[in-house]
Amino acid sequence: MADARPFQWEYKPDPVAPEILRIEGGRRLEGSVRISGAKNAALKLMAAATLTGERCRFDNVPEIEDVRVLAEVLRDIGVTVDHPEPNVYEIASGDVDWLFVPLEAAAKMRASFILLGPLLTRFGRVIISNPGGDRIGRRPVNLHVDAMRALGAEIEYRNGYYFAKSPGRLRGGPVNFPQITVMGTENAMLAAVLADGHTVIEPAAQEPEVDDLIEFLQKMGAEVERTAPNRIEIEGRRRVRGASHSVVSDRIEAGTFIVAAAATRGHLILENAPCDHLGAFMDLMTLMGVEVRGGEGRIEVNASSIDLKACDIQTQPYPGLATDLQPPTCVLLTQAAGTSHVHELVFEDRLEWLGELRRMGANVEIVDQHHAIINGPTQLRGADVEIGDLRAGASLILAALAADGVTTIRGAHHVHRGYEKIDRKFLELGARIERLSEGT
Ligand code: EPU
Repeated sequence: MADARPFQWEYKPDPVAPEILRIEGGRRLEGSVRISGAKNAALKLMAAATLTGERCRFDNVPEIEDVRVLAEVLRDIGVTVDHPEPNVYEIASGDVDWLFVPLEAAAKMRASFILLGPLLTRFGRVIISNPGGDRIGRRPVNLHVDAMRALGAEIEYRNGYYFAKSPGRLRGGPVNFPQITVMGTENAMLAAVLADGHTVIEPAAQEPEVDDLIEFLQKMGAEVERTAPNRIEIEGRRRVRGASHSVVSDRIEAGTFIVAAAATRGHLILENAPCDHLGAFMDLMTLMGVEVRGGEGRIEVNASSIDLKACDIQTQPYPGLATDLQPPTCVLLTQAAGTSHVHELVFEDRLEWLGELRRMGANVEIVDQHHAIINGPTQLRGADVEIGDLRAGASLILAALAADGVTTIRGAHHVHRGYEKIDRKFLELGARIERLSEGT
């Protein structure tokens, strides 16, 4: 008998088994590249879909490991997640039966904690693992938990799990964060959508991915609005409906390709690029001497004949320079004439990977958890390096592309967590890059 299920496009994930990338550097990158949807928007949109039993549809979803992991976590709790064609996901959360997000999910992906707000507000209870720290710092979730409590949730912490419940509907109210938090803002917003009454979140994160989530929630019929740059207000509703949405483009991937062009003295055109979301980064590139022009979804970087200048940088919440673009920027600073001071303000431990960059010949001093000094220009040379984090991994690829000789990057599978087909994209721009599995 014929299978009655609708056709499912078969997703062949990028490998998650330990992987090595082998890169022969020193080639100018040229051509055009399409920027994918943003990881840090797609994950939150998928979580938002659990606010309703009706079907939600997303396109421009990046084909990355984190999205695949979240889809699995959702399926495990009874949500229907269909993947009918590349970059399209459909989610229907009618029969959620197991409100438990296990340690395995949190260990694979910290962002699974974004399910706390929507599951708690819709079903009144959830048990969710503490995601703990990761390679870029301690990364606690106390602000998420405090926000839920401010909305009336009762939360206990036992044996590594948060047991959260709400006696009736959550209650809208003021959510005041002592510092800016992106996912904290998003979790509070998702919880407040179905709460009873009015919620004001302050200071609210201003990242474009937060606004993409607001836009989707509005399509679902939620009453949510950014009423000041750092304030979001929500009038809770009893229910919201299914909706469709196209994921905003990934500003971090775009920034990564801009650095790739500049570091290899190449000439790239980025299509589907979020020009309006890269203000601080584009200003920095201009200060460093990179010719970069953007408008209407297209960015052109021409670095065929530029002199890169050193610059002092400091990461900040949006609209400041994104912490996720600090590692790629550091690669470019090794190619710039003079001394650059790097201040990583958002996370501790996000400068550690510079030790691997030093093995490639970079003149880098890690002063402390938040400060580093880079002297340039230095000719990077191929080396055997290893990574354990997504952005550091992408940045070592950039360094390898600019280096003389062959680099092997161990742990390269981490990069597939957040970059769609990164090796294929670079290959098409003229890079010599190949995937080897561990043991090859
Ligand atoms: N913080 C706390 N307690 C909390 C939450 C955050 O102390 O409960 C601290 C963090 O330790 C950090 C600071 O507040 O020092 C800001 O962290 P934030 O909450 O803003 O980060 P996040 O929401 O966990 C998201 C992105 C990160 C990105 C940061 C900053 C997702 C899934 N992740 O993390 O992306 O670096 O915002 O923009 O949206 C990446 O994509 O590689 C990545 C790490």
